[in-house]
Amino acid sequence: MEWKQRIEKQLAANIKEVKDAAYVQLATVANGRPANRTVVFRGFIGEDHSKETEWQSDLLCFDVDIRTPKIKQIEACPFGEICWWMSKTGDQFRLTGQMHLIANPTHPVHSSKTVPDHLAEDHICARHPEKGLVWDWEQERVRQWEKCSPGLRANWVWPSPGQPKASNDPSSIMQFVPKFDLKEPPAHPNGQQYTPEEHQELARLGKDHFVILAFEVERVDHYKPYEQPQQRVIFEKQEGTGEWKMTEVNP
Ligand SMILES: Cc1cc2nc3c(=O)[nH]c(=O)nc-3n(C[C@H](O)[C@H](O)[C@H](O)COP(=O)(O)O)c2cc1C
Repeated sequence: MEWKQRIEKQLAANIKEVKDAAYVQLATVANGRPANRTVVFRGFIGEDHSKETEWQSDLLCFDVDIRTPKIKQIEACPFGEICWWMSKTGDQFRLTGQMHLIANPTHPVHSSKTVPDHLAEDHICARHPEKGLVWDWEQERVRQWEKCSPGLRANWVWPSPGQPKASNDPSSIMQFVPKFDLKEPPAHPNGQQYTPEEHQELARLGKDHFVILAFEVERVDHYKPYEQPQQRVIFEKQEGTGEWKMTEVNP
């Protein structure tokens, strides 16, 4: 798929020098109004940036928290747009499509309710079909959770995002720990150590809050303003056939 190859190639050309190259702006619709925020591109669902996995896909993966407003926005309206600027090479990608939330199966935002069956069939394929592996969304969610660095994972065990700080309960096990390792209990901010039971409970809560957002791309607008002459190409998925059509357009 040419748009995916372009993203991978340009991201690789930027990321070593520009850490921000994996930061994208993700827009949702909130009661008919735009809502926009920065999120980090975590790679394509089923894949890993440093080694080959059993799977490949063209679904963009983002890690989000079930307690944040974007979850309800996406449940109410799954359409979104990503705007991605890679400054070293001068590439803007605008990706339009639908968002799918993969949450803990016991949570009301459950994958089987929000993820249509065809999503995996149409977008994820096994590298070695002869092995007969079966795709499992929960397995992928857990893989992504375990892949997080302890510093990143801590976000999901903190008190609820967006709530007034004053409402934090000092007796709650949810505190602003700088790192959350799955093996070692973190140091409690009050200087004491979490007990193994508290650590286990925190790990359960963090994993419960952890959601992967799969972005299913329908249209890509790739614009290169630094080129002389400037270049702009649109990729559109054709309804019915599912084929991608590429059109060079005026910048
Ligand atoms: C550099 C940067 C990276 C971020 N990465 C993420 C991310 O990967 N996932 C996420 O949910 N929020 C991320 N955030 C926080 C979001 O921008 C946002 O503040 C938060 O998710 C709440 O969004 P909401 O209120 O629209 O749901 C990031 C913010 C910044 C500034």
